[in-house]
Amino acid sequence: MIEKFGELPNGEFSHLYTISCGQLVAKVADLGATLVSLYVPDKNGCLSDVVLGYDSPAGYLESGTYFGATVGRNANRIHNACFVLNNKTWCLSNNEGPNSLHSGPDGYNIRLWKVESHTENSIVLSLHSPHGDQGFPGNADIQVRYTLEQNGLRIVYDAVSDRDTVFNLTNHSYFNLAGHQNQHQAMEQLLTMPARFFNPDDAANIPTGELRNVADTPMDFRMPKALGRDIGENYEPLHLQGGYDHNFEVFCNPAAILTDASSGRSMAVYTDCPGVQLYTANFTEGQGKDGVVYKPRCGVCLETQYYPDAVNHPEWPQPFVKAGQPYHSETEYRFNW
Ligand code: BGC
Repeated sequence: MIEKFGELPNGEFSHLYTISCGQLVAKVADLGATLVSLYVPDKNGCLSDVVLGYDSPAGYLESGTYFGATVGRNANRIHNACFVLNNKTWCLSNNEGPNSLHSGPDGYNIRLWKVESHTENSIVLSLHSPHGDQGFPGNADIQVRYTLEQNGLRIVYDAVSDRDTVFNLTNHSYFNLAGHQNQHQAMEQLLTMPARFFNPDDAANIPTGELRNVADTPMDFRMPKALGRDIGENYEPLHLQGGYDHNFEVFCNPAAILTDASSGRSMAVYTDCPGVQLYTANFTEGQGKDGVVYKPRCGVCLETQYYPDAVNHPEWPQPFVKAGQPYHSETEYRFNW
């Protein structure tokens, strides 16, 4: 099914594409190649939409939440919005103090992507990002494929550039396995992450360079723990970011498992990325879809990506890709109920 999603400020229209497989149903917008809805059954077979979203393009264009969006060319932050590649400094537009967040004000999340194919259970969207776009080198052709499988959603990213560049794409969905309208239940859900290390940040959310052991800290999710259990602890990284908003290493797969006792739903995250940003929607507020008014901590992001500011940390896995070399990355959200 294809529906009109709404008009954009330039008069073009965004559309919503439905894909389904078994009991899973998703709606993807061409605006931002965005996952707008994801319906998953609960233990009684009742479907709920487990991602946060908006009813029309305006919410996506005006909010800055990046709900469900494809983020690129570089997800997360770049210190002072600059990096060096091949002895040349490349500067992006700063959109958070002096720093770049999610590649600046003209993110891929607010572009109208082209739909290359749409089948019953998959959709492929493409975007051409010219040399100098957002400040990045290289004419880049980017594709995102969403596929619903029997019990999961697979997101596959493919890209190529005609110059050496950065590719670090992610999906920015906010999950609430109790259903997005059951906001107060989001922080009761149990998270398990095998990560041994996380990246502490400064007050501007820029990594300090330290990889800190999670042992004996509120950042330890190696055993299942409610997201809200330690979030208010007197621990500097939680204070500075107003809750969880930190990158964790991907030590093994699944990189994370989220479970919701009330509905019986669980979600395991599989990825080939080296990091996952745990973000507990600390400041999210406003009118969402289905009449829901979102409040802080009403969902959780598990954004698979390179470590934040990796372009300025050669000691970490690097998101640089050579001219002509294919970039390929996959993340899967696998559900049980
Ligand atoms: C960042 C948050 C930010 C959010 C929405 C997340 O990826 O880690 O700091 O507020 O995106 O922009």
